[in-house]
Amino acid sequence: MANVAVIGAQWGDEGKGKVVDWLASRADIVVRFQGGHNAGHTLVVGDQTYKLSLLPSGVVRGKLGIIGNGVVLDPEALLSEIGKVTAQGLKVSPKNLRIAENVPLILPLHPALDKAREAARGGDKIGTTGRGIGPAYEDKVGRRSIRLCDLAEPTTLSKKLDELLLHHNSLLKGLGAPLFEKQALLEQLLGWAPKLLPYAEAAWERLETARHAGERVLFEGAQAVMLDVDHGTYPYVTSSNTVAGNAAAGAGIGPDVVGMVLGIAKAYSTRVGSGPFPTELTDEIGRGLGERGREFGTVTGRPRRCGWFDACLVRQAVKIGGIHGLALTKLDVLDGLTELKINTGYRIGGQTFRRLPSAFEAQAAAEPIYETLEGWTTSTRGARSYAELPAAAVKYVRRIEELVEAPVVLLSTSPDRDDTITLRDPFAG
Ligand code: IMP
Repeated sequence: MANVAVIGAQWGDEGKGKVVDWLASRADIVVRFQGGHNAGHTLVVGDQTYKLSLLPSGVVRGKLGIIGNGVVLDPEALLSEIGKVTAQGLKVSPKNLRIAENVPLILPLHPALDKAREAARGGDKIGTTGRGIGPAYEDKVGRRSIRLCDLAEPTTLSKKLDELLLHHNSLLKGLGAPLFEKQALLEQLLGWAPKLLPYAEAAWERLETARHAGERVLFEGAQAVMLDVDHGTYPYVTSSNTVAGNAAAGAGIGPDVVGMVLGIAKAYSTRVGSGPFPTELTDEIGRGLGERGREFGTVTGRPRRCGWFDACLVRQAVKIGGIHGLALTKLDVLDGLTELKINTGYRIGGQTFRRLPSAFEAQAAAEPIYETLEGWTTSTRGARSYAELPAAAVKYVRRIEELVEAPVVLLSTSPDRDDTITLRDPFAG
């Protein structure tokens, strides 16, 4: 079956929104399988700009959206996002949105703990989005989450809240943060029940039916491989597995159903929050990339750190993430630079590496081994075929393909959905 999973191949914000939107228009179902409202996808459709954090992009394109069990769901955030897109003229109902009944919920105590912990870390903070993602995943693994299906069972809910509050209030007390009261939380949960339960179902069953009917499914990843809780720059990562392998567990399907894995990478690198970033540029060139690329976080508005393309890192993401092909975005942001650098490896303590080691100290000490390429002064903005690109830009893309050991199947040259060079249809496998 020709399904597609889209994942970020760097540290997130690779421009997934545009690619996912294009693919969503050709899919029957779009599934989110990890992350939560820490993600931010901007979709420009006609004169409307939709900023989605939780809703699968397909909802904008009239497709069925599924929020899988691998997501952590903040009811307040979801209801507010539904309210916003409804005000923009979209209709969201259980007809076009389904939520896995076993999805764990983010409650107000999760962002409270997230923020209290970050404050306590001082200079060593992770730079989280403060949305409670980490604490919510901890509760899932700790087997004390309140899940969507629990909203239908007030007696169980009350008992589960006791356990949850014992855990959280102890931690919050230790951190000197305000504590939570059971009754107020219980009322909040029961208030959400009639609004959310109509969307709840066994999502795995719906996907199984879709598989038999030959429907096309798009698995929409959030964040990126270098933010993966196992494979990223730990501990400066998010709290879920962002690799395509998690599309199976996070949606409730077999690994063979995932289909083609499309990795999204920017033609340079960016990162928000703290953590190692070997090719970071803190000079005029870095500032220029940030300005031309409008590099500000969709969710938090924080300026993103910018740097040269790290082929060594993306190659690692290709291997770990099982990426079959890349969508390279924002090539036009490099227009006007006469010289470009691509990182091919790292020098760490006198040794040369062709991968980023797992230890934080080694990652922080990694010095890039650059290859210098000729830049281009003519514009690539809006190009829709290789023939419209300057020779140096084509050479740059080809060199990336060689170094990361994956073909570039889509090339994006402006935020406009049509300004894309399509070399291979991901749904064709
Ligand atoms: P958390 O996911 O809020 O716990 O944040 C952990 C790390 O992941 C921080 O460095 C965040 O900036 C980063 N992060 C989380 N979501 C995104 C995203 O959608 N794009 C880029 N970075 C993200």
